[in-house]
This record gives sequence, C-alpha cells and structure tokens, in this order.
Amino acid sequence: MDSILIGAPGAGKGTQAEKLSQLLGVRHIASGDLFRKAFEEQTELALKAQKYVDLGELVPDELTIPAVLRHVEEPESMHGVLLDGFPRTLAQAQALDAVLQGVNRQIDLAIYLKLSREELLRRIAGRLFCHAHQHVYHVQFRPPKVADTCDLDGSKLYQRPDDTGEALRRRLVIFFNEATQVLDYYRKQHKLRKVDGNQSIDQVTAMLLNEINDSMR
Ligand code: AP5
Ligand code: MG
Repeated sequence: MDSILIGAPGAGKGTQAEKLSQLLGVRHIASGDLFRKAFEEQTELALKAQKYVDLGELVPDELTIPAVLRHVEEPESMHGVLLDGFPRTLAQAQALDAVLQGVNRQIDLAIYLKLSREELLRRIAGRLFCHAHQHVYHVQFRPPKVADTCDLDGSKLYQRPDDTGEALRRRLVIFFNEATQVLDYYRKQHKLRKVDGNQSIDQVTAMLLNEINDSMR
C-alpha cells in the first residue's frame, strides 16, 4: 500500500507516520526529516535547501522532487511507502505518480489530518526533536522519560529553529494557501479522506487505521 499523510505544520504527520509505518509494514518517508538529516550531515542538498527551510518557505521542486523520489525508488520501499510532508505541490504529486506508475503502483490513499489553528500552535510550541533520528516529543503531550533526552537513542532533544517566529508564521500561511491544490488533486481521484486530528495520539492512530482498512475493502 502507498499512502500520504497531509496536514499543517504540527498536525501530527510525523507522530502518526512513525506508528503506522510499523503497524502496516511500509516505509515512512518524511521530506522534512530528509532535509534536516542533510543539514546534520552538511550535504550538497543541505547547502541549497537550508535557506528555504530556515525561512519557512517551500524548498523548490527541482531540489525536493529528486531528493524524495530517490527514496521511493529504493528496494526498501517496495512493500509500500507512507509519505509525510510530500507532495506539497501539484508538480510533486505528478512526479510521484510517474515514478509509482513505472513500477505498476499508485497512491492508494491520501489522508488529510485536520486540526484547529490553536491546537497546531499548542503542539508546535512544546515540540522537541532528537538529534540522532528525529524522534518527536512534546513537553506536555509526549514528554521524554529523562528531560531533554531521547527515550529511544539517548541523543539530546532540541527545538526546531523553524518552530518559532517568522518561519513558523510563513509555514502556516503557505500550508493554508497551497494545500488546496494537492487536496483537490486527490479528491478528484476519490482517494482523499479526512481525519479529525484534535484528539489524543492513540485515538488519531485508531481513526487513521479505520480509514486505511475501509479504503482497502
Ligand atoms: P516538515 O518537517 O514536513 O514540517 P511540517 O509540514 O511543517 O510539519 P511538522 O513536522 O512541523 O509537523 P507534523 O505534522 O509532523 O507534527 P508532529 O508529528 O511533529 O517540513 C519542514 C520544512 O521543510 C518546510 O517548511 C519546507 O521548508 C521543507 N519541506 C518539507 N517538505 C517539503 C516539500 N514537499 N516541498 C518543499 N519544501 C518542503 O507533531 C507535532 C507535535 O505535537 C509533537 O510535539 C507531537 O509530540 C505532538 N503531537 C502529535 N500528535 C498529537 C496528539 N494527537 N495529541 C497531542 N500531541 C500530539
Ligand atoms: Mg513532521
């Protein structure tokens, strides 16, 4: 199964994709995580993409599309992918379709995780990431066992620089301006479903699983 989680910054895409990919046996590919890994490793992609991410702007398609699709084409993705944060533009959605068609696959399901703006801000304000593997925590809703330390790999937790100030404001504006075209793209293909993200992590997972099971019937 190949599917997509769509949602505003802080909607819980990463949190849910991490859980669902394990439950479904598919590979979780998160475009934002790929960029942040590139920044840690100071790769060539990082040099070109960092200024956009720091400003909360979308990284141009000519950088984003090959960076993500390379992973979709890898053998580890042959049992299916769960995409988080990609596609965000029509060009990205079309490029994804072309790659999947090449291996006789297609996007089966796109789920829009919908939340109120107040809840998005509450989640982003308390979010912490681990340096080693981008595991996600929240000071209130999902605190680590030891302060500032990842439960899973012991690395230090940090706040994403684009989770504050102008960069955060830009990310929210861009999402609400530009998500419509991607949502419409999947709606027209009868692949789009909506889930209310204003619930606990486990409740949201249960609702996502319901939609996935229902769509496979
Ligand atoms: P990206 O990393 O994709 O950021 P985003 O879309 O803004 O989404 P977030 O990662 O902020 O939120 P999330 O939905 O994953 O929420 P999370 O699970 O962490 O992109 C970053 C940047 O990279 C972009 O701005 C852009 O520059 C660039 N980029 C990426 N993809 C691109 C693309 N395709 N094209 C161009 N540029 C691209 O949860 C949030 C918090 O809430 C956490 O603390 C979590 O613990 C907590 N939480 C989660 N669920 C719940 C719940 N149910 N109840 C309580 N707390 C919860
Ligand atoms: Mg994320």
